Amino acid sequence: MNEKIMRLREIIRESDNIVFFGGAGVSTESGIPDFRSVDGLYHQEWKYPPETILSHSFFTRYPEEYYRFHRAKLVVENVKPNRAHLRLAELEREGKLKAVITQNIDGLHQAAGSKKVLELHGSILRAYCSKCRKPYPADLINFGSGVPRCGCGGVIRPDIVLYEESLDQDILYQATSYIRNADVLIVGGTSLKVYPAAGLINYYRGNKLVLINRSETPYDSYADLVIHEKIGEVFDQV
Ligand code: OAD
Repeated sequence: MNEKIMRLREIIRESDNIVFFGGAGVSTESGIPDFRSVDGLYHQEWKYPPETILSHSFFTRYPEEYYRFHRAKLVVENVKPNRAHLRLAELEREGKLKAVITQNIDGLHQAAGSKKVLELHGSILRAYCSKCRKPYPADLINFGSGVPRCGCGGVIRPDIVLYEESLDQDILYQATSYIRNADVLIVGGTSLKVYPAAGLINYYRGNKLVLINRSETPYDSYADLVIHEKIGEVFDQV
């Protein structure tokens, strides 16, 4: 075990007020590609850039095209939580971790057993009518073909935050307050390039900011401990 991982082990051992903030890199070891790595979603060829497809105006104008992308790229079948998800759930059960704040929409933290999960960008495991807001089972939108419609005529949509849409203010408020009050903040598997989510780090006031990411991030120089390794492998050792 290397020195950095030993230091992280010690930080975790000494704290009972840890908050985790993560992104797509947390789920790559479960087989879900991230967005910005060379093999990520944003480097694949589509007629429109994924940021465009995943926007509110695109969804409204071209729901068929949106749903083609959604089913082909956002829905990944038979995925299971990996060692990072599982260890985080365990730390919560041990009373050490207070909340997981995630930008992911895959529901894998809950599948691993985490209870306090703040989904900043929503979840593809929930759906509702964009007109009357009636909830629908997610299978209706994630599988099948065409544009799913509600009895009221509205298009059924995933309960995710698209580009041009604002984050749920209650979730954002809870996330900032967990981070502000955390003793240890572990940030992992996120490029920290998408705001307002990335800016949450600025609410942290402690002196144990840990960054675990395969590649460099714009926040590396602010962190007290930076580990450039695979997050599942790191959590397996702490
Ligand atoms: P990104 O794809 O931007 O960043 C993922 C980061 O995780 C990259 O820096 C990778 O190097 C790193 N990474 C990948 N696999 C890893 C592993 N096994 N261990 C450690 N690090 C790993 O994803 P996010 O930062 O989550 O938003 O992107 C933020 C938002 O951009 C997403 O929520 C999504 C996207 O557009 C919306 O759709 C609104």
